[in-house]
Amino acid sequence: MWLYKFINAPELPEELEHKVMALYNDPSKETRRINSNSYADAMKPDLAGRLHPKDVVAIKDGKSYRNSRGFRYTLDQDVYDWIHQHLTDQYTDCGLSVIHGPDGLLAPHTDQTRSFAILYTFDTGGPDVRTAFYQEDGHPVERELRVFGTDYANLREVHAVQIPLRTWVIMNTNVLHSVENLISDRVQIQFGLNEVPAEWTYNQEINL
Ligand SMILES: [Fe+2]
Repeated sequence: MWLYKFINAPELPEELEHKVMALYNDPSKETRRINSNSYADAMKPDLAGRLHPKDVVAIKDGKSYRNSRGFRYTLDQDVYDWIHQHLTDQYTDCGLSVIHGPDGLLAPHTDQTRSFAILYTFDTGGPDVRTAFYQEDGHPVERELRVFGTDYANLREVHAVQIPLRTWVIMNTNVLHSVENLISDRVQIQFGLNEVPAEWTYNQEINL
């Protein structure tokens, strides 16, 4: 089973990166928010009764952590056009992703609406930020959508990585994963896929 791969795709051109960062820095970007709990509920109504990320509290080494949140914003059309040309237009959702929260921890979870996430990172959110993958006691490594692993006492870390900047990475988000040690906003383009384009090639694949 693979956990993540580095996709053979070019870096986003500098002028498009500037547009993405201008959006990130634009205080009026809240009008371009595209994700919310209602979005996830509408995408997967059968999972709507499950715990919401905003209500998740993780317990690690006896300390409680309030969950970081990820917010998504609509990109400029020429950024979408570039992604369609160089990667795919078959995504479930695509936007500027900003992740941060009060305790610097995006708690272990599977994603809500997609089996795979594609990430391109502009700011990691801190020098020691790591993405960690877990297996929960009594469960297979790959899980359903919208599952949380809130008690670290029941989780075994199977891999951790510092995802590099300006690299297109595909993650297997069916495996419980967290983002830890956030001290500032983690700024990325993210999109979701339920099927991986057959024509993609990779320069590195990390397996369990
Ligand atoms: Fe995730």
